Amino acid sequence: MRIDVVTLFPEFVRQCAGFGVIGRAVERGLLEVEAWNPRDYAEGGYRRVDDSACGGGPGMVLLIEPLRKALAAARQAATGHVGQPAPVIFLSPQGTRLTQDRVRQLASLPRMILLCGRYEGIDERLVQHEVDEELSIGDYVLSGGELAAAVLVDAIGRLQEGALGDAQSAQQDSFSDGLLDCPHYTRPVSHEFGKVPAVLLSGDHAAIDRWRRMQSLGRTWLRRPELLGNMTLGQDDQRLLEEFKREHKGQAHEQGH
Ligand code: ADE
Repeated sequence: MRIDVVTLFPEFVRQCAGFGVIGRAVERGLLEVEAWNPRDYAEGGYRRVDDSACGGGPGMVLLIEPLRKALAAARQAATGHVGQPAPVIFLSPQGTRLTQDRVRQLASLPRMILLCGRYEGIDERLVQHEVDEELSIGDYVLSGGELAAAVLVDAIGRLQEGALGDAQSAQQDSFSDGLLDCPHYTRPVSHEFGKVPAVLLSGDHAAIDRWRRMQSLGRTWLRRPELLGNMTLGQDDQRLLEEFKREHKGQAHEQGH
């Protein structure tokens, strides 16, 4: 998977791709991340990339031409990916909200180009002519798309085959089956903050799976009930959730259930 990022802060994006799971995926050649600065394609002594908004108002808007040229350079540069479509994804708070489902779909593409905005935004004509998809990472406003692009690189990168040490850990993620993840514990089994739930020490793998599923269902019900509203639970899941509800009556009441 190759990801090209068009950004006024290429160093930020390169640095973000250098740590942890993503850094290792890059080292192992599972993921390639390159950054392109529109300023390198801007004209004139000042290499201007922005101008005031037509119609007035505060803030500056990124110009069409430097972005267009940077996108063209990114499209052409990926050797080994010639002829492969490179959808352009613009990160903006006006985009469709990113979900794990969309991350999974994007992770299976051979390449993509991420476009980061700054200031008040980018000229809408560039969005209309060059952008295939507009994505937001949440209902809040960042000062630019770089952090959002880094989020996307991370979420997509960790799903590349071989990126995670234990292949199962992606399957057990929150949202991988529409539910939040269950809680996790490690040693010591007894600590001043409390004990590890006994079932996890029982060695009974069926009971452990059942407990984890119940916690996933219960946490989703407590914290993100709207996720359950979009699912049809099987009978076993319904029973587990009822059991969880019985055990957590007080907690549920506190959370307004
Ligand atoms: N750029 C600024 N805010 C953003 C957000 N919430 N998501 C994606 N890109 C952004």
